[in-house]
Amino acid sequence: MAAQRKRRGPSTRVLVLHGPNLNLLGSREPAVYGRQTLSDIDGTLHALARDIGVTVETFQSNSEGKLVDRIQSARATADAIVINAGAYTHTSVAIRDALLATELPVIEVHLSNTYKREAFRQRSLIADIAVGQIVGFGADSYALGLRAAADLLIRKR
Ligand code: DQA
Repeated sequence: MAAQRKRRGPSTRVLVLHGPNLNLLGSREPAVYGRQTLSDIDGTLHALARDIGVTVETFQSNSEGKLVDRIQSARATADAIVINAGAYTHTSVAIRDALLATELPVIEVHLSNTYKREAFRQRSLIADIAVGQIVGFGADSYALGLRAAADLLIRKR
Protein backbone atom coordinates (compact mmCIF):
# COMPACT_ATOMS: atom_id res chain seq x y z
CA MET A 1 0.00 0.00 0.00
CA ALA A 2 2.81 2.40 0.92
CA ALA A 3 4.58 1.59 -2.35
CA GLN A 4 1.37 2.12 -4.26
CA ARG A 5 0.85 5.44 -2.50
CA LYS A 6 4.37 6.50 -3.44
CA ARG A 7 3.98 5.44 -7.04
CA ARG A 8 0.80 7.47 -7.42
CA GLY A 9 2.82 10.48 -6.30
CA PRO A 10 1.75 14.08 -6.55
CA SER A 11 0.09 13.96 -9.98
CA THR A 12 -3.11 12.43 -8.67
CA ARG A 13 -4.89 15.46 -7.34
CA VAL A 14 -8.62 15.16 -7.66
CA LEU A 15 -10.96 18.11 -7.27
CA VAL A 16 -14.50 17.15 -6.23
CA LEU A 17 -17.11 19.80 -6.95
CA HIS A 18 -20.59 19.99 -5.50
CA GLY A 19 -23.12 22.31 -7.09
CA PRO A 20 -26.22 24.10 -5.80
CA ASN A 21 -28.35 22.77 -2.96
CA LEU A 22 -25.93 19.96 -2.21
CA ASN A 23 -25.03 21.85 0.98
CA LEU A 24 -28.50 20.78 2.15
CA LEU A 25 -27.82 17.05 1.85
CA GLY A 26 -29.08 15.13 4.84
CA SER A 27 -32.24 17.18 5.14
CA ARG A 28 -33.04 17.82 1.47
CA GLU A 29 -35.47 15.27 0.00
CA PRO A 30 -33.88 12.38 1.91
CA ALA A 31 -35.97 9.83 0.02
CA VAL A 32 -34.19 10.93 -3.16
CA TYR A 33 -30.75 12.00 -1.91
CA GLY A 34 -30.28 9.99 1.29
CA ARG A 35 -29.48 10.98 4.87
CA GLN A 36 -25.77 11.65 4.57
CA THR A 37 -24.70 15.25 4.91
CA LEU A 38 -22.21 16.90 2.59
CA SER A 39 -19.66 16.86 5.35
CA ASP A 40 -20.23 13.08 5.82
CA ILE A 41 -19.58 12.63 2.09
CA ASP A 42 -16.49 14.84 2.10
CA GLY A 43 -15.18 12.95 5.15
CA THR A 44 -15.63 9.62 3.36
CA LEU A 45 -13.85 11.00 0.28
CA HIS A 46 -10.89 12.23 2.31
CA ALA A 47 -10.57 8.84 4.04
CA LEU A 48 -10.84 7.01 0.71
CA ALA A 49 -8.29 9.35 -0.86
CA ARG A 50 -5.81 8.50 1.90
CA ASP A 51 -6.46 4.79 1.36
CA ILE A 52 -5.95 4.82 -2.38
CA GLY A 53 -3.09 7.32 -2.34
CA VAL A 54 -4.54 10.37 -4.02
CA THR A 55 -5.10 13.86 -2.75
CA VAL A 56 -8.59 15.25 -2.84
CA GLU A 57 -9.99 18.73 -2.48
CA THR A 58 -13.71 19.35 -2.19
CA PHE A 59 -15.63 22.53 -2.94
CA GLN A 60 -19.34 23.35 -2.84
CA SER A 61 -21.09 26.42 -4.11
CA ASN A 62 -24.62 27.46 -4.91
CA SER A 63 -23.24 30.03 -7.33
CA GLU A 64 -22.57 29.20 -10.97
CA GLY A 65 -19.87 31.88 -11.17
CA LYS A 66 -18.02 30.57 -8.13
CA LEU A 67 -18.06 27.08 -9.60
CA VAL A 68 -16.72 28.43 -12.89
CA ASP A 69 -13.94 30.28 -11.02
CA ARG A 70 -12.99 27.13 -9.11
CA ILE A 71 -12.99 25.05 -12.30
CA GLN A 72 -10.75 27.61 -14.04
CA SER A 73 -8.21 27.48 -11.23
CA ALA A 74 -8.25 23.65 -11.29
CA ARG A 75 -6.12 23.69 -14.41
CA ALA A 76 -3.13 24.50 -12.22
CA THR A 77 -4.14 22.63 -9.09
CA ALA A 78 -5.81 19.35 -10.09
CA ASP A 79 -5.29 16.38 -12.39
CA ALA A 80 -8.92 15.33 -12.64
CA ILE A 81 -12.32 16.69 -11.69
CA VAL A 82 -15.25 14.79 -10.20
CA ILE A 83 -18.34 16.95 -10.45
CA ASN A 84 -21.92 16.83 -9.29
CA ALA A 85 -23.12 20.10 -10.75
CA GLY A 86 -26.62 19.59 -9.30
CA ALA A 87 -29.25 21.47 -11.28
CA TYR A 88 -26.55 23.30 -13.28
CA THR A 89 -25.89 19.94 -14.94
CA HIS A 90 -29.00 20.49 -16.98
CA THR A 91 -28.57 24.19 -17.76
CA SER A 92 -25.04 25.52 -17.53
CA VAL A 93 -23.12 26.15 -20.73
CA ALA A 94 -20.69 28.19 -18.57
CA ILE A 95 -19.76 25.19 -16.42
CA ARG A 96 -19.44 22.98 -19.50
CA ASP A 97 -17.15 25.53 -21.18
CA ALA A 98 -15.03 25.95 -18.04
CA LEU A 99 -14.59 22.18 -17.75
CA LEU A 100 -13.55 21.98 -21.40
CA ALA A 101 -11.06 24.82 -20.90
CA THR A 102 -9.25 22.92 -18.14
CA GLU A 103 -8.44 20.05 -20.52
CA LEU A 104 -8.66 17.80 -17.46
CA PRO A 105 -10.49 14.48 -17.34
CA VAL A 106 -13.97 14.98 -15.89
CA ILE A 107 -16.15 12.41 -14.15
CA GLU A 108 -19.79 13.33 -13.71
CA VAL A 109 -21.59 12.00 -10.66
CA HIS A 110 -25.13 12.18 -9.34
CA LEU A 111 -26.62 10.76 -6.18
CA SER A 112 -29.93 9.96 -7.86
CA ASN A 113 -30.44 8.12 -11.11
CA THR A 114 -31.31 11.17 -13.17
CA TYR A 115 -32.51 8.93 -16.04
CA LYS A 116 -35.32 7.60 -13.88
CA ARG A 117 -36.55 11.11 -13.06
CA GLU A 118 -38.15 14.08 -14.83
CA ALA A 119 -37.32 14.58 -18.51
CA PHE A 120 -35.40 17.80 -17.82
CA ARG A 121 -32.97 15.87 -15.58
CA GLN A 122 -32.23 13.39 -18.33
CA ARG A 123 -30.25 15.95 -20.31
CA SER A 124 -26.75 16.70 -19.09
CA LEU A 125 -24.56 19.40 -20.63
CA ILE A 126 -21.55 17.66 -19.07
CA ALA A 127 -22.10 14.02 -20.08
CA ASP A 128 -20.62 14.21 -23.57
CA ILE A 129 -17.45 15.96 -22.40
CA ALA A 130 -16.95 13.64 -19.42
CA VAL A 131 -14.92 10.46 -19.40
CA GLY A 132 -17.95 8.83 -17.83
CA GLN A 133 -20.94 9.24 -15.60
CA ILE A 134 -21.86 7.56 -12.32
CA VAL A 135 -25.48 7.98 -11.28
CA GLY A 136 -27.91 6.49 -8.83
CA PHE A 137 -25.68 5.09 -6.09
CA GLY A 138 -26.42 7.77 -3.52
CA ALA A 139 -23.36 9.00 -1.64
CA ASP A 140 -21.42 6.04 -3.06
CA SER A 141 -21.57 7.71 -6.49
CA TYR A 142 -18.90 10.11 -5.23
CA ALA A 143 -16.66 7.34 -3.89
CA LEU A 144 -17.02 5.45 -7.16
CA GLY A 145 -16.21 8.67 -9.02
CA LEU A 146 -13.09 9.25 -6.95
CA ARG A 147 -11.93 5.68 -7.54
CA ALA A 148 -12.57 6.08 -11.27
CA ALA A 149 -10.57 9.31 -11.34
CA ALA A 150 -7.68 7.71 -9.44
CA ASP A 151 -7.59 4.68 -11.75
CA LEU A 152 -7.71 6.91 -14.79
CA LEU A 153 -4.77 9.00 -13.61
CA ILE A 154 -2.71 5.93 -12.82
CA ARG A 155 -3.40 4.43 -16.22
CA LYS A 156 -2.28 7.69 -17.87
CA ARG A 157 1.17 7.66 -16.26
C1 DQA B 1 -28.46 15.73 -8.63
C2 DQA B 1 -29.56 15.59 -9.68
C3 DQA B 1 -29.97 16.97 -10.20
O1 DQA B 1 -31.00 16.82 -11.17
C4 DQA B 1 -30.48 17.82 -9.07
O2 DQA B 1 -30.79 19.11 -9.53
C5 DQA B 1 -29.52 17.87 -7.93
C6 DQA B 1 -28.88 16.66 -7.50
C7 DQA B 1 -28.07 14.38 -8.02
O3 DQA B 1 -27.01 14.30 -7.43
O4 DQA B 1 -28.84 13.42 -8.09
O5 DQA B 1 -29.36 18.91 -7.29
O6 DQA B 1 -27.31 16.27 -9.26
